[in-house]
Amino acid sequence: MKSKKKILCIGAGYVGGPSMAMIAYKCPDYRVTVVDTNPERIDAWNSSELPIYEPGLDKIVKKTRGKNLFFTKDIENQIKENDIIFVSVHTPTKTYGTGADMAADLQYWEKTARQILKYSRSSKIVIEKSTLPVKTALAMEKILSSAKGRFRFEVLSNPEFMAEGTAICDLENPDRVLIGSHETKSGLNARAELIKIYSRWISKEKIITSNIWSSELSKLVANAFLAQRVSSINSISALCEKTDANISEVAKAVGMDSRIGDKFLKASIGFGGSCFKKDILNLVYLCRYYDLKEVASYWENVVKINEYQQERFVANILNSMFGTLAGKKICILGFAFKANTGDTRESPAIYVSQKLLAEHAELIISDPKALKNAAVDLAGTKGKVKYIEDPYQAAVGCHALVILTDWDLYRNLDFRKIYKSMVKPAFIFDGRNIIDHKKCFSIGFNVYPIGKPALSHFKV
Ligand code: NAD
Ligand code: UGA
Repeated sequence: MKSKKKILCIGAGYVGGPSMAMIAYKCPDYRVTVVDTNPERIDAWNSSELPIYEPGLDKIVKKTRGKNLFFTKDIENQIKENDIIFVSVHTPTKTYGTGADMAADLQYWEKTARQILKYSRSSKIVIEKSTLPVKTALAMEKILSSAKGRFRFEVLSNPEFMAEGTAICDLENPDRVLIGSHETKSGLNARAELIKIYSRWISKEKIITSNIWSSELSKLVANAFLAQRVSSINSISALCEKTDANISEVAKAVGMDSRIGDKFLKASIGFGGSCFKKDILNLVYLCRYYDLKEVASYWENVVKINEYQQERFVANILNSMFGTLAGKKICILGFAFKANTGDTRESPAIYVSQKLLAEHAELIISDPKALKNAAVDLAGTKGKVKYIEDPYQAAVGCHALVILTDWDLYRNLDFRKIYKSMVKPAFIFDGRNIIDHKKCFSIGFNVYPIGKPALSHFKV
């Protein structure tokens, strides 16, 4: 039997798992192995309950696992056996020392580089899939080239642009695949190897190449631009609330200009997720490092507006409910940072919940996929919190509903039934503008959307 070509991925997280499952699915003649230092994660990838919820992921893992997709804890031997290695370890914001709360913490990434160096017994192509500050590949090259003369390590940058909740569609049909390489002979050969893999299912025009630094920087910039759109529309939502303009109407009118486009113009309680904030802060840190103060503060404001949006959402709840939340029951509908994921990293729901608990409100948190993570996120927080998946049960006896995730499930709830089970006057704060506000108002709710006039039954 012809032996399969081999690929290794170090890091079995939200990126490593789905992206390698897609390669295994599309390239049956490659043997794809994913390793991780976290043994529970590997066990979960090998079980019937995958460690992350992602629509469509189960199906492709079922089709490939044990055939040409493998999850294992044996990092040492896998590094020895594989000549193409993707690195998709996490790169969170640093919490200590120089660059704390801004720069990327590169310790996991550097440990990986050292592991590759230590266990390698042949030359390898090493592909940065994690999001990294521009010029990180240079550091990786320096570490890997310390084994002078023994083997060659060619470093490529291949940032991942998938979004959670739509990861499988994004991986199967990406807008583009970006590969950064050196323009040397070995750099171009390595690039060709990677193009060979992606061109199995992605058209040649969508696979673009650049130098490594442009590739690293493009990833940070793409996230910064997307987040900037959310902050732009959210800043205007504040103005709409003061002027009786309607943010949905404004977004529609603005987005129909083909130069602007209609995506990422949904006003909300603010962006969450593990990457937008960390990548912008990383960009800000880089700009400061290169003494580009004005550029740094321009991008920093995208994060500041995001924080402002969450603060004013909580202030609106407090003010609308007569200035006190003490002892009131509030039902949080949605804890994930967006729909179709169980991921709660940097979810605005964490901030909102903590602030409501600080006002001595009692919280009943509901979410179809994120309750386990929510319980971990709020573990150290003082106050009364219950977790109930069924939104109807969660709302019983509550004074207010607070919608924080745009799950489809919440669009079509039977709000009449919910209203009957709540304490009156009943309030809805729609942090996603996903429900029919007029209908809920006619049922009897006092309704507070984002960037639209409140619909209140109170005279003043
Ligand atoms: P994650 O935390 O879900 O997964 C990272 C995994 O790497 C963890 O399971 C961790 O145990 C493992 N790991 C860390 N050090 C290791 C080592 N030395 N050896 C083996 N395994 C190790 O993170 P993620 O969300 O998958 O993100 C990974 C990278 O991809 C980040 O740089 C992120 O910015 C980027 N990214 C994420 C997304 C996303 O949607 N989550 C999308 C695009 C890019
Ligand atoms: C984002 C990018 O979209 C991906 O391209 C990128 O690969 C990824 O970050 C990453 O590097 O991790 P993700 O964070 O998974 O993906 O999800 P998005 O769909 O971008 O949403 C981010 C946040 O913005 C969510 O909280 C979402 O609810 C919010 N959002 C998005 C809005 O509030 N309004 C919008 O119009 C769009």
